[in-house]
Amino acid sequence: MTTNVRTIVREVLGQLSSSKEARLYLRQFSSVDALNFAVVKVGGGIIENQLEELAASLAFLWHLGLFPIVLHGAGSQLDQALEDAGVATHKLDGLRVTDEATMAVVRPVIYRTNRKLVEALERHGVRAQGIQHGVFSCDYHDQQRYGLVGKINAVELESIRDTINAGVLPVVTCLGESSAGQVLNINADIAARELVWAIKPHKVLFITPTGGLLDGNGELISAISLCEDYQQLMQQDWVHSGMRLKLEQIQQILEPLPPSASVSITSVDNMARELFTHEGAGTLIRQGERIYHLEDLAEEQHRLLIELLETSFARKLRPDYFSTLKLKTILFASSGRAAAIITEGIGGVAYLDKFAVTPQARGEGLGATLWQRLQTEYPALYWRSRRANPVNNWYFQQAGFTAKNDTWVGFAYGMSSVVSAANCLEDAFSREDGWLPLNNSEGLAT
Ligand code: ARG
Repeated sequence: MTTNVRTIVREVLGQLSSSKEARLYLRQFSSVDALNFAVVKVGGGIIENQLEELAASLAFLWHLGLFPIVLHGAGSQLDQALEDAGVATHKLDGLRVTDEATMAVVRPVIYRTNRKLVEALERHGVRAQGIQHGVFSCDYHDQQRYGLVGKINAVELESIRDTINAGVLPVVTCLGESSAGQVLNINADIAARELVWAIKPHKVLFITPTGGLLDGNGELISAISLCEDYQQLMQQDWVHSGMRLKLEQIQQILEPLPPSASVSITSVDNMARELFTHEGAGTLIRQGERIYHLEDLAEEQHRLLIELLETSFARKLRPDYFSTLKLKTILFASSGRAAAIITEGIGGVAYLDKFAVTPQARGEGLGATLWQRLQTEYPALYWRSRRANPVNNWYFQQAGFTAKNDTWVGFAYGMSSVVSAANCLEDAFSREDGWLPLNNSEGLAT
């Protein structure tokens, strides 16, 4: 890296929330083979409307020594060009029917879009290479029905591999060829899926204008764990058909990948933040992990649980903590990075004694997933948290009732009446501390 680039990189890293976090992700992304870091899918609209910003964010990655494999469509350019040429657009089953007249327009537009992105990257100091052919070997999908549309039968990685080995960023189009050399048009989502399956990258990035999936209130969904959230999500009536399809596609994409792989849907401007912070900026989708009931405190799990609690709260548990608990259950994530300890409260209501999630797991959405499980299993719950706990803002959103005293904030939801809520919160305030006393500074324990 030149000094100049290094300065820029340091400056950009400095803008991210904590450069320690950024370094952790940079290490993670660099630990896989250069070929396997990421496949980035960008639609034609982004190249049309945000070309410079897109080139700058990809340049940032390249300057860090990362080689995202860029795959792009040219949907909006094609629609326009076909209209200008007076060629009618037909779509069948989501595929663009491609007769010869259509192909005559499609090919040059895709080449031009590819060149545009490559040139923009070069302007940002990146060595980039357009790969327009030789990646997707195809058969005709159904020549009668769709014309010159390819069905991918093999993905040839040689040109992509050579490009990356030469330190050059590959920019791949969605064109394929038949064994006889006929150029065929491929749907960009299908091309992305096949490329991902062939590469098995650590990250899959979809760069979209909205920058993520939105929930029923139009708010960004930060993270989805397929194994815990998928079924429930698909039952929501606000999940419209477009999103349903997207989720199904993403589940398919992730299926043959190792559990460490993830998909991020983000925008051009949020790409670096999504990649290099725990919290991210977009929607992260992973296979996720199971949350289970820790029934007997078998030694290994118990040790993991104590470690999680003590590091999350930066305090030591009282040695008799577990033996004095009136334990109902412990919900524990299989990676050991999130836990909820639920005990008997008053009036038959459950009391949440401890809730801990590591910062990284929170970014993956594990905290939210665990909370959802908690809500499903305990329709009424109360808990307390020290007044300075930074998680309180979030707790306030989860609770229907809250109260404060000098030390604590008490929270409750699902209460049958204000009186029972008040009784519960009073009980929360009067509970003994599970932590060993701190000599000087105050901890943040619940
Ligand atoms: N930086 C991490 C990654 O890219 C975590 C991102 C978290 N993103 C989110 N939208 N919750 O893998």
